[in-house]
Amino acid sequence: MKPAILLIGTNGQVGRALSTMLPRIGEVTALDRQRLDLTQPEEIRRAIHNFHPAFIMNAAAYTAVDKAESEENVARAVNAEAPAVMAEEAKKIGASLIHFSTDYVFDGSKTSPYDEDDPANPRNVYGRTKLEGERAIQASGAAHLIFRTAWVYATHGRNFLLTILRLATQREELRIVRDQIGAPTLNTEIAGATTKILAQICDAEGGPFSLADVSGIYHMTASGETSWYDFANAILEEAAKTPAGGPWFAAATSNLPLIARRVLPITTNEYPTRAQRPAYSVLSNARLNRTFSVQMPDWRKQLHSVFAIPPAKKP
Ligand SMILES: NC(=O)c1ccc[n+]([C@@H]2O[C@H](COP(=O)([O-])OP(=O)(O)OC[C@H]3O[C@@H](n4cnc5c(N)ncnc54)[C@H](OP(=O)(O)O)[C@@H]3O)[C@@H](O)[C@H]2O)c1
Repeated sequence: MKPAILLIGTNGQVGRALSTMLPRIGEVTALDRQRLDLTQPEEIRRAIHNFHPAFIMNAAAYTAVDKAESEENVARAVNAEAPAVMAEEAKKIGASLIHFSTDYVFDGSKTSPYDEDDPANPRNVYGRTKLEGERAIQASGAAHLIFRTAWVYATHGRNFLLTILRLATQREELRIVRDQIGAPTLNTEIAGATTKILAQICDAEGGPFSLADVSGIYHMTASGETSWYDFANAILEEAAKTPAGGPWFAAATSNLPLIARRVLPITTNEYPTRAQRPAYSVLSNARLNRTFSVQMPDWRKQLHSVFAIPPAKKP
């Protein structure tokens, strides 16, 4: 029998990709904010009690990094307190919790990829509240997997890919930060890797490989590293190579031509934001590879795959 999976945050970038992949391995109940508001702990308890899932998959989060600086209470409710309640309820019913976290738990002072055991030291409210969420889950005693990912983008939602394409229809010159280094990660790669891992765990049910044996934090980001500046250039290169684009591309550009001719590198100081961000937040996926034999493709390959989505067929 397929296990029951409760997917929370089904409308987000990662949530939407998971909602199309998870039905391969389980009976999925998917809840968006309308059906489950994570600022209401009693709603979380009720949902878990009613659905009694084997797996709780939390893809929801308060992800507005700058806004979080002035909405700390809401960010904490969604990113720290809600996962704590999920973990507590999971523990009660013997369910496992799968949760996502962020590269922004690190301060960026390293110059080589961060391991899971490197000390966290978030520089902003978002990172702090996400770290509190991780710690609450770890302290709960529930079987859990926490996947830390980074610089997430998709063909929907609010992200750097869609922002650059929109700006490229409006401005000839873009000024983009070059002194922040990370790994842009496509939502479908995160959902694909997560689904693969869950399939391994479900196949091994009763065998030597159960989720409780592998509970912990794992880094799950694209391989390689880049700056926002180089990522912007790569986006425009891909866009120039595939002018027909897919339906998402037409929506992102409102069918307008791209007029951007130059991308100028700037420093973080020249682009002040409310939240501070780490200068370097590349994560090592070594533990993920070792434990689950999951290899995350290079960021450039992931970006290319988005532009390879074929245009909609004419009726
Ligand atoms: N985005 C990134 O660059 C990034 C980087 C590193 C790690 N991550 C982590 O990766 C995971 C997935 O992120 P994502 O990029 O898919 O995020 P996303 O696209 O911003 O989606 C987050 C989802 O959470 C939902 N949500 C927010 N507040 C809620 C509340 N009070 N009750 C119920 N739902 C609520 C949102 O609902 P609405 O659709 O109604 O707004 C949205 O669907 C998160 O854990 C995030 O912290 C993301």
